[in-house]
Amino acid sequence: MIELAFSILSADFAHLADEIALATRAGGTIVHVDVMDGHFVPNITFGPPVVKAIRPLTSLPLDCHLMIENPDKFIPDFAAAGADMIAVHWEACPHLNRTLQLIADHGAKPAVVINPATPVDFLVEVLPLVHHVLIMSVNPGFGGQKFLPACLPRIRQLAQLRKDLGLNFRIEVDGGVAHDTVASVVQAGADMLVAGSAIFSPGKTEANAVDFLRTARAAASVTV
Ligand code: DX5
Ligand code: ZN
Repeated sequence: MIELAFSILSADFAHLADEIALATRAGGTIVHVDVMDGHFVPNITFGPPVVKAIRPLTSLPLDCHLMIENPDKFIPDFAAAGADMIAVHWEACPHLNRTLQLIADHGAKPAVVINPATPVDFLVEVLPLVHHVLIMSVNPGFGGQKFLPACLPRIRQLAQLRKDLGLNFRIEVDGGVAHDTVASVVQAGADMLVAGSAIFSPGKTEANAVDFLRTARAAASVTV
């Protein structure tokens, strides 16, 4: 199933409830929450209090993408705030197996993220533990960046690994996924599509999300 995980990083923060409602009405099924600490990435965004504030606004799953150092320290807080899925960066986790178990122990679905320069092969040992793998298609830190096409063979490689290992984790892609790039991302094997700047735009959010999903689902039905 192809799903739109809309990134609220590009939403109007003063009207988050309305923005989430609009994207949901247009077919978005996952709320993607980009958590940045100013250390792991050069930007600062939300913490657990914002996740807690969003929680009662929607019944959609909250997909928390932690772009932070030492995520173990904050996983319990994000889970308690209502995160359904918690994704940590391979690059930030020296004890990744322990971190993924910690997420599961707190009742959230564990996921792992790799930056554009991290080999897909490095994930082999943890693939049986994750709900999804997030492949970054930009260097993390900001919305509205240009899609890096070098992620496409990486998505294909991961989809092949999933098949070879007989696993069923989902494949999420994040960064620059927009109307002109989403078809190639879906055809490479992704099924959770993060999009922020391609969706949120005053007066156009619903139409953007509808068009985005239409393009993505049309691409899914084409075999390449
Ligand atoms: C980037 C974030 C993304 C970002 C995507 O570091 O992880 O989720 O919000 O934004 P767009 O869709 O604008 O590239
Ligand atoms: Zn993200």
